[in-house]
Amino acid sequence: MSLKDSPGLREIQRGELTLLEIRNEACTALVSYQGAQVLSFVPTSGEDLLWLSEKAVYQTGKAIRGGIPLCFPWFGPHPEDASKPAHGFARNREWQLVDVQAGADSHRLRFRLEDDEQTRGLWPYRFVAELEITLGHTLELALSVNNRDDQPFTLSNAFHSYFPIQDIRKARVDGLDGVTYIDQLLAGRPRLIQQDGVSFSGETDRIYLDAGGDYRMVDLSRPRQIGVHASNCRSAIVWNPWQEKTAALTDMLASAWTSMACLECGNVEENRLLLRSGEDVTCLLRLTEG
Ligand code: BG6
Repeated sequence: MSLKDSPGLREIQRGELTLLEIRNEACTALVSYQGAQVLSFVPTSGEDLLWLSEKAVYQTGKAIRGGIPLCFPWFGPHPEDASKPAHGFARNREWQLVDVQAGADSHRLRFRLEDDEQTRGLWPYRFVAELEITLGHTLELALSVNNRDDQPFTLSNAFHSYFPIQDIRKARVDGLDGVTYIDQLLAGRPRLIQQDGVSFSGETDRIYLDAGGDYRMVDLSRPRQIGVHASNCRSAIVWNPWQEKTAALTDMLASAWTSMACLECGNVEENRLLLRSGEDVTCLLRLTEG
């Protein structure tokens, strides 16, 4: 029996991409082989913890707008070569499903991405990355990267989670009070200190450094809270494109900026990771309702 035929799994086609639909007693979920990207996670007793664009494009090699794309091995534009894909190549590549553990109220899927000629053309190192996704009462992601090269490398990574919000103007991110952030939208990318919770009143694109790893996405208009717990992720990124930037994004409805926000956990800027030859690192993310 092939792994995709495990109990509770079913492959479905969306555009050019094959997705895995997962069903167990605790949740239903949708995961794309491209990017090993979780697109939807609905606990049996609740609603989707993730936002997925109604205009998302399901095309080979194109990032899917929503869910939890993985940024790796760099974050944002490539520091030296703008022609390389934004946020690295991991979210645009097909990952291999290498293990499935199916239980009554939980599934554990393990995906793998290894270097090949194409990745070495973009990033000249040998590596193995694995993403273990646990889909049960909570959603857990564990990203491990192993340096298979004979030289050290640095990497940036992020779990680029998109969350649904009823009204962005009444949303708040807690857990970043007192943390230094880079405001990516201001000239010179100044470093500022967060006072209180993060609220949204315009385009927002901030990188928080040396952050604690325990956050809350608070939707005050419902009210609803999503707990975001990260380990080995020293940075957090908060992003909302607001009206004008959204109009330029062909994979988002013009009004979609009002109903989503990204709170991303990872290691970027000076929090990026150094891996010596043979070393590995594991970064964790857990999302909980309430
Ligand atoms: C965020 C970045 O993480 O991702 C933003 O901080 C960026 O600068 C956003 O615009 C979306 O990126 P992309 O490549 O998915 O459109």
